[in-house]
Amino acid sequence: MTANDQAPSPPPVRPAFDAVTWKEIAHLLSNLPVTLIGFVYTAFMVATTGGLSVTAIGLPLLVCGLYGARLLGKFERMRARALLGVRVAEPTPLPGPRRAGGFFAWLWAGMKDPVGWRTVLYELVRLPWGVLTFTVTLTGLFVLWPVLPYLVRGMANVDRVMVRGLLSPSDELERRIAELESDRVVVVDTAAADLRRIERDLHDGAQARLVALAMGLGLAKEKLLEDPEGAAAMVDEAHGEVKLALQELRDLARGIHPAVLTDRGLDAALSSVASRCLVPVKVSVDLPARPAEAIEGIAYFTVSELLQNVSKHAGARGASVEVWRAGPRLLIRVSDDGRGGARMSGGTGTGMAGLAERLRAVDGVFTVDSPEGEGTVVSAELPWRERGLA
Ligand SMILES: Nc1ncnc2c1ncn2[C@@H]1O[C@H](COP(=O)(O)OP(=O)(O)OP(=O)(O)O)[C@@H](O)[C@H]1O
Ligand SMILES: [Mg+2]
Repeated sequence: MTANDQAPSPPPVRPAFDAVTWKEIAHLLSNLPVTLIGFVYTAFMVATTGGLSVTAIGLPLLVCGLYGARLLGKFERMRARALLGVRVAEPTPLPGPRRAGGFFAWLWAGMKDPVGWRTVLYELVRLPWGVLTFTVTLTGLFVLWPVLPYLVRGMANVDRVMVRGLLSPSDELERRIAELESDRVVVVDTAAADLRRIERDLHDGAQARLVALAMGLGLAKEKLLEDPEGAAAMVDEAHGEVKLALQELRDLARGIHPAVLTDRGLDAALSSVASRCLVPVKVSVDLPARPAEAIEGIAYFTVSELLQNVSKHAGARGASVEVWRAGPRLLIRVSDDGRGGARMSGGTGTGMAGLAERLRAVDGVFTVDSPEGEGTVVSAELPWRERGLA
């Protein structure tokens, strides 16, 4: 399970008709009608706007036509995702006339839109390919039954290459923007989940204790004259509540960003987390310097969540935490000798699924290896960023 599993490569060819092969067959058969529509639209659009390009409406019409081509590309990406399992990031939408800074800027940006033009190219080259794949697959279904899965996998792989090559965001920068946009959503989501957790902890913990304390003190005040002893007992109880409330507030603050991490770095902070774990933990932090605050914070949070899991679920006799730097990456490994069988829960924002998302948002990787009965090893990888440059 890796958080970076964006574009899984197709599974190896098996001479069997499994679900993957049937989906590929569906894709190859639907190639003909889809590419036919795409080709007719594109050829018509290029021919008409080419003919009209000398007139005033020619160029705006071309830009609108390219917008249409983008829609076709979107549909093709959806079809490839559903039937071929190819995940291609959506290109950034073109800005409208107002955001582009005027009609002519919009026209110019639309005319040289690489995504639109590459979709046009895709639609044009697809027609002969669509006819070929449709014919071969249909014939294969009747007469080439034993080798059909191999043929289908080969042709579907060509489809995968075409979709990745021609329908992905235009260049590395575009791809990065698309990735960052989805990461931003994750960061906002996890921040919102953190806020909810803090709110819940405050509401159920410290706040409830302070309310009980206020009531207890109110009663003690009333009893002070007639029953000083009873009042003293109540004040005593209230004193206990105050201590608990303080402890809860302290724990809450520690969960947000512990002072020891800011002051003394990961080694000391992780040792302090380890000392709160219910099983003995061996901590080894081998870092040449302190990484950027954000990275340090995520590393701390990751280890502290994982050790909480060890306390809660593992039933282990011991655990270990290792943190070290390997080139441009910061590596973390938390292992225990407990019962294993750890799985990422489906929900987002909390638990290991939340950790995986958090790490993905900074280009990190999160893997869980937890065979039933054989302990758990969780590895996390973060980019190393120098302090002060983050
Ligand atoms: N070290 C471990 N050993 C054995 N099982 C584990 C371990 N860590 C996690 N698990 C199992 O994997 C599940 C998912 O863990 P995860 O941290 O995502 O959720 P959680 O701990 O149940 O909830 P939360 O972390 O939100 O309080 C756990 O419910 C537990 O059954
Ligand atoms: Mg957990």
